[in-house]
Amino acid sequence: MASENWQIRRLGTVLGAEVTGVVLAETSDAEKAEIRSLLHANKVLFFPGQFMSAPDHIAFGRFFGQLEGHPNLKDANAVEHPELFRLVASTGGIADEWHTDLTFQEQPALMSILNMKQCPEVGGDTMWCDLVAAYEKLSPPLQDLCDGLSALHDAHPHNRPDRMTIHPMIRHDPETGRKALFIHPVYAIRFEDMTERESRPMLDFLNDHATRVEFTCRVRWQPGTLTMWDNRCVQHNAMNDYDGFSRRLHRTTVAGAVPSI
Ligand code: SIN
Repeated sequence: MASENWQIRRLGTVLGAEVTGVVLAETSDAEKAEIRSLLHANKVLFFPGQFMSAPDHIAFGRFFGQLEGHPNLKDANAVEHPELFRLVASTGGIADEWHTDLTFQEQPALMSILNMKQCPEVGGDTMWCDLVAAYEKLSPPLQDLCDGLSALHDAHPHNRPDRMTIHPMIRHDPETGRKALFIHPVYAIRFEDMTERESRPMLDFLNDHATRVEFTCRVRWQPGTLTMWDNRCVQHNAMNDYDGFSRRLHRTTVAGAVPSI
């Protein structure tokens, strides 16, 4: 196995691993399949020192599925590479709230792959939280209650009132057999068949619970760090604490399926 030559270091108690000794742009399909298995085991992977060209980044992402753009973000670069876009902090590419990508879509993103091009000397870390651990740490009666609920994910708070859909509160991952809490602090505004007022207290509890520090890991970016994560089982949050510094990333997003219960 190729990964015998890779060094894998767990970064958080429940999720996150750093992988060194690999050049992602040169990986074979068999090695990429090993990366998918590592991702299933760790939910978020960090690869330092991957200075990927746009075509290499796109080719790497395509192995994992069809790539999609971001419906809410526009990037002039997209003309040249429609499947890759640049997140530039100075032009609005700041994602400083806990979220899972694109949950207002019927088929939310499966995977996101980010390559750091220019990062602040201090600050600008990203955190992830583990929604499988969050589900597993709920008391059984609350798990049962969540198992039966669905929530409306509405992109109205991000000025896209035309984009909304209903998802189950608990996602079952057909590849790993795991169950994950499937919430979003901004888009999931109420439970199906309930009012916002009725839903708010439990949504607030679940959002706080999901982001408890013991369910998180954090990356200190360097230029060239590539991170990839499984949107079916994590949320992420980019720290906006680098006033005066530039932060610029390239991103591809792998399209997902309708969440299964
Ligand atoms: C994102 O939410 O896709 C961006 C994360 C980051 O900027 O670290």
